[in-house]
Amino acid sequence: MCGIVGYVGEREAGKILVSGLRKLEYRGYDSAGIAMIVDGAIDVRRAVGKLDNLQAVLDADPLLGTTGIGHTRWATHGRPSEQNAHPHRAGDVVVIHNGIIENYVALREALVAAGAEIASETDTEVISHLIDAELRKGGDILTATQAAIARLDGSFAICVMSAKEPGRLITAKNSTPVVVGLGEGENFVASDVPALLDYTRDVVFLEDGEMADLTAGSVEVMDFHGNRRDRKPRRITWDPVTAQKGGYKHFLLKEIHEQPQSIIDTTRGRIAPETGEVLLPELEPLLAGIKQIERVVIVACGTAWHAGLVGKFIIERFARIPTEVDYGSEFRYRDPLIGPETLMIVVSQSGETADTLAAVEEARGKGAKVLAICNVVESSIARKADAVVYTHAGPEISVASTKAFTTQLTAFYLIGLELGAKSGRLDPALEAECIDALVQLPNLIGEALKSEEQIIRTARMMAPAQDVLYLARGINYPIALEGALKLKEISYIHAEGYPAGEMKHGPIALIDENVPVVVLLPNDEVYGKTLSNLKEVESRGGKIVAITDYADAELTKISESIITVPRTSTSLMPVLLTIPLQLLAYYVAVERGTDVDQPRNLAKSVTVE
Ligand code: M6R
Repeated sequence: MCGIVGYVGEREAGKILVSGLRKLEYRGYDSAGIAMIVDGAIDVRRAVGKLDNLQAVLDADPLLGTTGIGHTRWATHGRPSEQNAHPHRAGDVVVIHNGIIENYVALREALVAAGAEIASETDTEVISHLIDAELRKGGDILTATQAAIARLDGSFAICVMSAKEPGRLITAKNSTPVVVGLGEGENFVASDVPALLDYTRDVVFLEDGEMADLTAGSVEVMDFHGNRRDRKPRRITWDPVTAQKGGYKHFLLKEIHEQPQSIIDTTRGRIAPETGEVLLPELEPLLAGIKQIERVVIVACGTAWHAGLVGKFIIERFARIPTEVDYGSEFRYRDPLIGPETLMIVVSQSGETADTLAAVEEARGKGAKVLAICNVVESSIARKADAVVYTHAGPEISVASTKAFTTQLTAFYLIGLELGAKSGRLDPALEAECIDALVQLPNLIGEALKSEEQIIRTARMMAPAQDVLYLARGINYPIALEGALKLKEISYIHAEGYPAGEMKHGPIALIDENVPVVVLLPNDEVYGKTLSNLKEVESRGGKIVAITDYADAELTKISESIITVPRTSTSLMPVLLTIPLQLLAYYVAVERGTDVDQPRNLAKSVTVE
């Protein structure tokens, strides 16, 4: 999971490559590098760590040229080091790569036996050597790349340049994304659209098995055998400003505050203003192909998996269809029982998560229909699924997922209401209540965001903790898991989410005066039961942080901090309870001085197993 960029044209390539890489740093930031052809020879600059380190190298030792490639890396094979940083050169060839070459060990042995000198520990370097070896046999960079690709097993988005053919780039895609940007007298390659938006809005998303041959004046798309593909460009209408921090200190805070708008965008055009009915034409072809949905299986990873856990409650409550939830990384290795009567729903912000993508392939292979909830339009999962409900949350730059999560929940409400209405199993009163709550949701989130001052005070109290417990029940239990994950990933504090009633079966042993316990306590049918669990916490000295729409005298007495959210339909409380948890994790992380937007060891989109 890396970011790749390429430029061919008349302008100074270095600036364009570095600015593109900045927009892709969310994909990984272990090292970065660029390569250009200077006076007929390949020249490379690389640096370990974030892009600023590469910029410092370039400031000290500039690289000037009008064709180049650049890379920002998330290490898979080979530790983060300058030697392992891309681009990787062999003879007259230089390559950048995102993905994993599964047969690289065998290829490397063969190359070494043939006399190649391998300089890095990466799987990528074999690609440059294979292409260089092919070039030596004759042909050009295109045919040499095609011949090399034929020997690769695994996933790759590559961009290739040869000193013998300056002014030409070759890119190819298998299982990891490549987008080609079309300019006037210049053309571009990138892993993702934001890298291109400052230069062009006309793009071609390569499909798996496709490659492109770029010069300043031409782009030809073809399959790996050279058969031309007629691909119509798409015009991207995203505003590049949405990819900026917009005045906030961190992308994460900006994205938390964007949630009222992103939920408006998710629901836009999907609730009929007069009748209040849900409109999801995306589902029609899918549902027409399934006689009766007997079961729903939701598959996702990380935060998206937590959205799936809430999705189970929603689908079972609204449509009364038995639903189970699995991790992308587990699903396909358990020989899952899934077939044409099962609807699979996959959830992925990026649409590129390798484990989720593999689950889609597994399910489709067994005849199940797949509905995807994705944010990134035209992403790999979106293209593989039978139908997609896009969340339209806009680019999410911060590694920790926030607006993607609440828009995924929103998509589940829409899907649950639609499945419930179509099956005739949804109680009309519940339907009306939930649709009304959905319409009100953006305003209510705006209200929930107003608790920031209280949250900052609470974050100061929590920041020194080593462990934090998150408790909730029922449909809000997944939100406890999500709150714990947010805290872990950005503040590096150990945190665990537990069903409140389970605490007495083990985790209670952890509780003392140093362990804050964050509890989600909406005024629902289990309020009293959860309050009893909190008394067990209080009597062991634990510090209670209550997030609630209703604080009675008892809760007020035993809590160190109470953060209130507005009240809504019980089914939609998970969204409102999420907001303070996101802010709490954010302010604890700020208090601890961590790298909020790019936490250590993490990357935004996990395109490897
Ligand atoms: O792009 P996806 O939604 O498929 O990503 C899934 C997870 O990798 C992602 O949600 C991850 O857990 C986030 N860093 C959580 O904030």
